[in-house]
Amino acid sequence: MKIVETAVALRAELAGQRVAGAIVGLVPTMGALHEGHLSLVRAARTRCDVVVVSIFVNPLQFGPDEDLASYPRPREHDLELAAAEKVDVVFFPSVAEMYPADRSTVVEVGPLGEVLEGAERPGHFSGVATVVAKLFNLVDPDIAFFGQKDAQQAAVIKRFVADLSFDVQIEVRATVRDSDGLALSSRNAYLTPSQRLQALALHQALREGEAVVTETGDIDRAEKKMWEILSVGDLVPDYTRCVDPETFLDPQPGGPVLLMVAARIGTTRLIDNVLATTDGGG
Ligand code: PAF
Repeated sequence: MKIVETAVALRAELAGQRVAGAIVGLVPTMGALHEGHLSLVRAARTRCDVVVVSIFVNPLQFGPDEDLASYPRPREHDLELAAAEKVDVVFFPSVAEMYPADRSTVVEVGPLGEVLEGAERPGHFSGVATVVAKLFNLVDPDIAFFGQKDAQQAAVIKRFVADLSFDVQIEVRATVRDSDGLALSSRNAYLTPSQRLQALALHQALREGEAVVTETGDIDRAEKKMWEILSVGDLVPDYTRCVDPETFLDPQPGGPVLLMVAARIGTTRLIDNVLATTDGGG
């Protein structure tokens, strides 16, 4: 496994593979790797000849009061996990490497990036799209892999890839959960045992909300139900919404419904979602 820290070294490393016609897969991450990331790496391994994992805690996607400084950065452990999955190249750039002091261009993602997570975290999706666009230009992957847990992020990325004609296929893979249902997230590391137990309410809210949607088609009721479930103990809901999985606006009658929740527990903010299908109720 090669570990490269500069754009020049990354391009040099991949140039030969390109000439040989290799299919290159990219798994972009912010590190603190867990089974969710590893499932993406395994998917990349089965689909691609060369697997590149990027590890970069991207300052552009954090708001001023968010957890950029405390975000976990277990470099050696991440490298061990990547090596065990037979990753070919880990791209581990510094902030200065990715963002020269005189940079000024960002990717603006439009309305899709302004609702839900985008409304709660202004500028977040522009930061995500900017770094992912840079990674696509640096790696030039044939396929890039993202997790469904960040459903809106995946939709934003598909949108800018289409809008800006990036030549990359986006694969979105299922959320990986612990056996009790908690969606894996690098931010779970912040939770105390008691907070982790309470955080199970996110998955419970989604399951109960999904049951309301599939049995009655009543999305208002589902949203209220999820809000109630997330308003207990130390949990504070940010939003509980049922949306169209492509526009992230109200679902089409009888169309697919993505249930999304976000809640805070202490200083930790968690998100989760599930896709339900309604035949319009009845
Ligand atoms: O999902 C993440 O870990 C990040 O948002 C990503 C896609 C690596 C961009 O920094």
